Amino acid sequence: MRAGVFDSGVGGLTVVKSLLEHSLFDEIIYFGDTARVPYGIKDKNTIIRYSLEAVEFFKNFDIDILIAACNSVSAYAIDELKAVAPFKVSGVIQPGVKALTNKAKNLDAKILILGTKATINSQKYKRLLNSQGYYNINSLATSLFVPVVEEGLFEGDVLKSVMNHYFDGIDEPDFIILGCTHFPLIKNEISKFFPNATLIHSGEAVVWFLKNSFNIPKSKSQTSLKLFASENPDKLKEVAKKWLYNS
Ligand code: DGL
Repeated sequence: MRAGVFDSGVGGLTVVKSLLEHSLFDEIIYFGDTARVPYGIKDKNTIIRYSLEAVEFFKNFDIDILIAACNSVSAYAIDELKAVAPFKVSGVIQPGVKALTNKAKNLDAKILILGTKATINSQKYKRLLNSQGYYNINSLATSLFVPVVEEGLFEGDVLKSVMNHYFDGIDEPDFIILGCTHFPLIKNEISKFFPNATLIHSGEAVVWFLKNSFNIPKSKSQTSLKLFASENPDKLKEVAKKWLYNS
């Protein structure tokens, strides 16, 4: 099977990493809208418009499913994508909520949702969790983590001070939803801050969700990965080397 993975920029590679680890697809076509990143500070209509343009890009490839790896796209544009796409579409928010409900057996579990402004303002995670009966929910827009991760600062003083800025005074939750493509890259540092919290990672959540909801057979071959970007594809390829293959 062939999958398209769409993100506002390089961040969706964290989801690609999980897809590669599980050999879910024969081929992955990745498109990062690097010319217009970040989406997380843009309004709903803009995010929908950019996402619909991405569908046009993926129509050039014979994909079976499009995965919107971007939480901001998943927050605002999934229904619009599903309405026009000639292939299946999955976001990452529904899988993230499913992953949480698989793990959090008590409805009074303390849940902290981290995401961009767009994701948090949409309240999509919160509403879905409320509809499942969870009510002890704190949502925090932590947009500054995005440029920090893009700078490659996965640990150290800059990241620590941004963490202090956002997390000081916040009670340790039982679960943290990493509701942004970039946050899995700083999960170790988040865990140091909240050592007892269980982290929910979009990439791992989407693998489980795809396997269970779309009956995807395990790919027998090694997944081939094609990378496209709306600007500076060489930078995307550089980041892919570092994040996916640690080289
Ligand atoms: N990919 C975005 C997300 O997961 C983060 C970067 C951005 O703001 O575009 O929400």
